[in-house]
Amino acid sequence: MPVYQATVSAPVNIACIKYWGKRDTKLILPTNSSLSVTLDQDHLRSTTTSRADPSFEKDRLWLNGKEEVIAHGGRMATCISELKRLRREVEENNAAEPKLSAFAVHISSLNNFPTAAGLASSASGFAALVASLAALYQLPASPSTLSLIARQGSGSACRSLFGGYVAWQEGTAPDGSDSLAVEVAPREHWPSLHALICVVSDDKKGTSSTSGMQRTVETSPLLQHRIKHVVPERMRIISDAIRARDFDTFARVTMQDSNQFHAVALDTDPPIFYMNDVSRTIIAIITEYNRVSVAAGGKLKAAYTYDAGPNAVIYAPEENLKEIVELIVNYFPQPAPFKDPFGLFGSAGVGEGKLVEGFNAAVAKKFPVGSVKNLIHTRVGDGPRKLDDAEALLGPDGQPKSLA
Ligand code: DP6
Repeated sequence: MPVYQATVSAPVNIACIKYWGKRDTKLILPTNSSLSVTLDQDHLRSTTTSRADPSFEKDRLWLNGKEEVIAHGGRMATCISELKRLRREVEENNAAEPKLSAFAVHISSLNNFPTAAGLASSASGFAALVASLAALYQLPASPSTLSLIARQGSGSACRSLFGGYVAWQEGTAPDGSDSLAVEVAPREHWPSLHALICVVSDDKKGTSSTSGMQRTVETSPLLQHRIKHVVPERMRIISDAIRARDFDTFARVTMQDSNQFHAVALDTDPPIFYMNDVSRTIIAIITEYNRVSVAAGGKLKAAYTYDAGPNAVIYAPEENLKEIVELIVNYFPQPAPFKDPFGLFGSAGVGEGKLVEGFNAAVAKKFPVGSVKNLIHTRVGDGPRKLDDAEALLGPDGQPKSLA
């Protein structure tokens, strides 16, 4: 009896033009287009193994080794049934194909970053789920077609089906058939864009994206202005900036759009706050860093962006990352030595950090150790990867391998 199994990894993406608001909550159709950068799976990824077998009694899913309920009619069930439907089409067109669509599946998924880090895992997680089932079923489907399915798992997941620079086009069709992800440029077009993720310490449970954005749609007048008059133009400007590798424009629009997303959150009734004092201090540091450069006749050197939580993601050209890490460490002493995957600092490490010449130290105060609990240096990356069976997360018995 052959084993029908596939293992895939998928990347995290961080939006520069934010998705915030649905016009259809069941199909997950957005109120505006969005655009993101896919991050490198060498550093952050979700890995998923899917297997179909006639002996399996029902569809089952394990996340980081723990079994999750696949709720009937829920997002997970929708993705699985859509992929089975596409498999059925393959079987109907070729009678020689094994009838995998009739078998139940076991799915095991693992994030290589702790959920406790406060990093959203739904985008990479749903992208890996969809890509692994598509590989198992040998679907002749493009990444854009798969993005239609991942979108119904979590909106932002549709953008993780591509590497590089990715737009999610809002579309107009009521059935969602044109609300999909497209590649604006591959990673190779502009590989020198790096990212520093500042993981901010946070005990409180924030408002989830799903419920927060719905409340914004229902109550924020500013969101209506954003959708109609701001996002369409920004999508054009930032897409052109990416094609021209124009970091200055990319950075300006990215920061403006992060700010406006947090403004519509504040404009929601009751208001939603995702950033905290540490987040705002990182904005002040990046603003001052850019001011020093522009005052000397230069251009913007870094861009901050924030999602539905206090963590900062700082985008910058590779050559600026050393200065940026030193600036952040200067204000936010680290609980553990900075993991330096690109070897910026050599064996001496980053030390206590330092400021660039002309930097006004008074824009921020130093925070206690651990206020920023981790710094992750990564860069623009590729799309989902098919992995060898050696990396499978299911054992020969079809159960998740132990995580030891
Ligand atoms: C702030 O994709 O998590 O990160 O579609 O309800 O699952 P659902 O929401 P989700 O929202 C992401 C919001 C964001 C901005 C973005 O990624 O574009």
